[in-house]
Amino acid sequence: MKQVMLLVLTLFAMSTATADQAAYAVCAACHGANGEGNVALSGPALAGQEAWYVERQLKNFKAGIRGSHKDDIFGMQMRPMASVLTDDAAVTKMANYIASMPPVELTATVEGNAQAGKALYAVCAACHGTDAKGLKAMNGPSLVLQQDWYTVRQLKNFKSGIRGSDSKDLFGMQMKPMASMLTSDQAINDIAAYLNSL
Ligand code: HEC
Ligand code: HEC
Repeated sequence: MKQVMLLVLTLFAMSTATADQAAYAVCAACHGANGEGNVALSGPALAGQEAWYVERQLKNFKAGIRGSHKDDIFGMQMRPMASVLTDDAAVTKMANYIASMPPVELTATVEGNAQAGKALYAVCAACHGTDAKGLKAMNGPSLVLQQDWYTVRQLKNFKSGIRGSDSKDLFGMQMKPMASMLTSDQAINDIAAYLNSL
């Protein structure tokens, strides 16, 4: 009896895993089979990102709160993909699946001064944590799961208002002035180098 129950439970777990994997197949093209990202297609890493953050981004893309700025060429590639997830339940399931993917090994591509980046990061710690692993209470996502080229792009997009300027983007609006404190490209690269060193 116990064995039968175990078998049923295993089969159930397997079928949910496969269903999630099947739903993720469309995402894999740009984000990698294991959520490792794909620099050639500009798709950032997703593996291990917390579900609450992923869920918010997917809903924001769907609603056009993110990815609708006329110069947001990468956000615009993502928007129709989020709309493939037709209801909230599908979004939540996908977010949980992404959060369950083991974080991947990241390769550094940006050169900067990690020591200078560390000093600049002090202000960021309030919302992203001293370890940069994210602070849910402050709505700040983890920054250590992300590839440096994507981080650099987001910081530039926040600065220029390509991200975080929609009037309904409450969380992007909190981040935008923070990116503007990084006054030069060098400062942005230094932050990226520091995050790589963590
Ligand atoms: C055609 C390529 C493409 C496909 C397919 C795609 N995405 Fe994306 N996605 C992108 C790009 C490009 C970005 C980065 C947008 C930016 O730079 O602001 C992105 C960003 C994201 C983000 C935000 C990450 C962050 O750290 O803020 C999430 C979450 C995401 N995608 C999830 C998905 C899911 C789930 C699917 C499948 C349903 C999917 N994507 C399919 C291209 C794609
Ligand atoms: C007042 C709180 C706050 C501070 C301080 C802050 N951030 Fe953020 N940051 C956020 C929030 C909230 C988001 C999520 C925005 C969203 O949901 O679209 C974010 C998003 C980001 C992202 C995008 C992550 C992704 O996966 O797309 C990066 C990169 C980032 N912050 C870097 C920084 C850096 C570097 C600093 C310091 C210079 C900083 N942040 C300071 C609140 C903050």
